[in-house]
Amino acid sequence: MTATAFKKLLTDNPWPNTDGVTAWDFTLGGRGRELIDQIILKQKPSFMLEIGCFLNASAKRWLSLDAGLKLVGVDPWSDTLIEQCKRYVGRPGLTRAYPDIEEQKLFASDIERQSPFVTAMANLSGFEDRFVPYRGFSPEVLAALKATGFVPDLIYIDAGKKADDLEVCHALWPAAMITGDDWHWGRTKGYPMRKIVNAFAAKHGFTVIADHATWVLERP
Ligand SMILES: C[S@@+](CC[C@H](N)C(=O)[O-])C[C@H]1O[C@@H](n2cnc3c(N)ncnc32)[C@H](O)[C@@H]1O
Repeated sequence: MTATAFKKLLTDNPWPNTDGVTAWDFTLGGRGRELIDQIILKQKPSFMLEIGCFLNASAKRWLSLDAGLKLVGVDPWSDTLIEQCKRYVGRPGLTRAYPDIEEQKLFASDIERQSPFVTAMANLSGFEDRFVPYRGFSPEVLAALKATGFVPDLIYIDAGKKADDLEVCHALWPAAMITGDDWHWGRTKGYPMRKIVNAFAAKHGFTVIADHATWVLERP
């Protein structure tokens, strides 16, 4: 059922033309993603949902690990990401990835010229039959995604740091393993994502495994 749904999702959510587009494999994600790598390598999920894809660097990581994995990415890929990327120039995250300031400026201008969405999709060149760009905001679009018949085995949340993302995912796909990023985010605000994940785990009877920015909800 999900294989058929995935094929239809691919048709209904076409890729943009990325001929001549420069890909930037830059991730905003934190460390600890080896936890997710191990789930993909050992448990071999067939279908994965990622919420919050940005330039698709994490999506590329997951897809590169297992040729059998298929992924639906939910993100509005809105043009507001252009201003966001401009603000990264000279900041530590982008400087670590691209020490040359001229390369950082090129990054920001390519995102603006090519658009965030097209740049993100260029980064997944070669994965055209294994990634569906499902544009929109979570959790609002998730019910419509479920209605297509898509059932993920694994979910990775790296978006708006909202409890609703977890609650809606669990309500729609109760058998899916839920994981995500941002465990380390917001030290001065008391680590808001930790509070959300811990409260969700306590409410639904999960155990939390975390490493740096990454968290995984396990059934005891
Ligand atoms: C931290 S970035 C994702 C980083 C990406 N996973 C990576 O490792 O490179 C957050 C992304 O979430 C997206 N986003 C923000 N709110 C969202 C929402 N409600 N639903 C889906 N995506 C959202 C933003 O557009 C942005 O691309």
